[in-house]
Amino acid sequence: MADSSRITVDTVYGQMVVNPNDHPRGKSLAETGQAYDHEDIALLVDLVKKRGPESVVIDVGANCGSYALAMARHAAQVIAIEPQRELVQQLRDTIELNPFGHRIFAMHAAAGRGGDRFWEVPALDYTARHETDIVRLAAATDETPRARLVPETTVDHVVGILQLARVDILKIDAEGMDLDVLAGARETILRFKPILFVEWRHTDRFAMQRVLFEDFGYPSAQVIGGNDFLCDPDVVTPDPLHSYVPGDLPTLLMPEALATMEDLARSAPQGCFVEVGVYQGGSAQRLYRIAEAQERTLWLFDSFVGHVEASAVDWHPVGAFNAGGGPAARVVQETLPNAYIVMGRFPDVLAVKPVAFECLRDIAFAHLDVDQYESTRRAIRVLWSRLISGGIILIDDYDLDGCKLAVTTTCYEMGIGIEMTKEGKAVLRKP
Ligand SMILES: C[S@@+](CC[C@H](N)C(=O)[O-])C[C@H]1O[C@@H](n2cnc3c(N)ncnc32)[C@H](O)[C@@H]1O
Repeated sequence: MADSSRITVDTVYGQMVVNPNDHPRGKSLAETGQAYDHEDIALLVDLVKKRGPESVVIDVGANCGSYALAMARHAAQVIAIEPQRELVQQLRDTIELNPFGHRIFAMHAAAGRGGDRFWEVPALDYTARHETDIVRLAAATDETPRARLVPETTVDHVVGILQLARVDILKIDAEGMDLDVLAGARETILRFKPILFVEWRHTDRFAMQRVLFEDFGYPSAQVIGGNDFLCDPDVVTPDPLHSYVPGDLPTLLMPEALATMEDLARSAPQGCFVEVGVYQGGSAQRLYRIAEAQERTLWLFDSFVGHVEASAVDWHPVGAFNAGGGPAARVVQETLPNAYIVMGRFPDVLAVKPVAFECLRDIAFAHLDVDQYESTRRAIRVLWSRLISGGIILIDDYDLDGCKLAVTTTCYEMGIGIEMTKEGKAVLRKP
């Protein structure tokens, strides 16, 4: 590997070995001396300080160690678990450079729910621009080269073999494996009640809330930066996640986004409501209540078996957000009896369900929440053609690359202006 791929830099966390080709983490550390997500690191450092100098931290998804190093300055021990060998090597070099580095124990492993198995780390060219922060592991096969294999462990196992007598903070950033990591940390969490800082962005947020609140008994969770939950057993935040309403249908949307959706729907001109992307029905239920009060028709479209396609730009694979097929659709139908639920791939389903094709007219408000490039692109065209003057399409996933590309290209082609909500969602308004 070329020397420029591993350089030593002074950072606000200490001396670090980083790769400036690693965008944005290595690059920001090399160029500015701090990580691009420094605010999160600073927050965790404050929490370590709050727990005191005897603190023990477990950092799952440690990357090159910016969090681990920052926390190690104030903690007794930081166990850093990272599946990418190159990053573990960088961290081990970083450890040697700092007087408090010995407090970090760097493990080359993938944390999960506990299986006697290996994972495959994707091949990256470290000499060219790359992004280690979004690397996802795949199940290893017989063909996986040995150099790209990483063994699975669990937080509980690590705590056991290291005979840790306390765990104060558990940080989890496992790119979609976060729920598995929580499952594999069950004993540790129940025994030590650590402060949890866990990424929900790439998992089923509702499932994570259920685990945090119901299985582990945390009183509340704060949303940090739109990606992470912070659960401190000693802190009941004044604004706990109120989108988690026991008894209501689950939703992946944040409370603020739901409130904005409701405001836009409520003030839409006379006409029907549509949602494409229902999943377990939470946002649909919010629309349903307004539709019932305002005597509007509500159309709900979903495959109910998850995403039906994935382009190279998309984050989620085919089948992500599989609600469970027909039985899931029935639960939504029973809860929202007056809604018209059309199960299938949108918009193709309109061709095979002539009633829906004929009746779906005069759309006043459409909530489009299908995440993916192709589905978003095709849905915008159909919904726009049936939107009445003054009608609105609210697109939830504008922060996802695939969705954003679909919105910007389609709107450019069709001459549609894009407005933004304060939560960063896209709004298309028909003149
Ligand atoms: C993020 S979830 C929707 C979340 C939901 N609005 C809520 O309140 O939690 C995305 C949904 O889009 C559905 N979906 C994606 N592409 C689709 C398509 N082309 N046709 C039908 N459903 C699709 C998936 O099955 C999934 O249920």
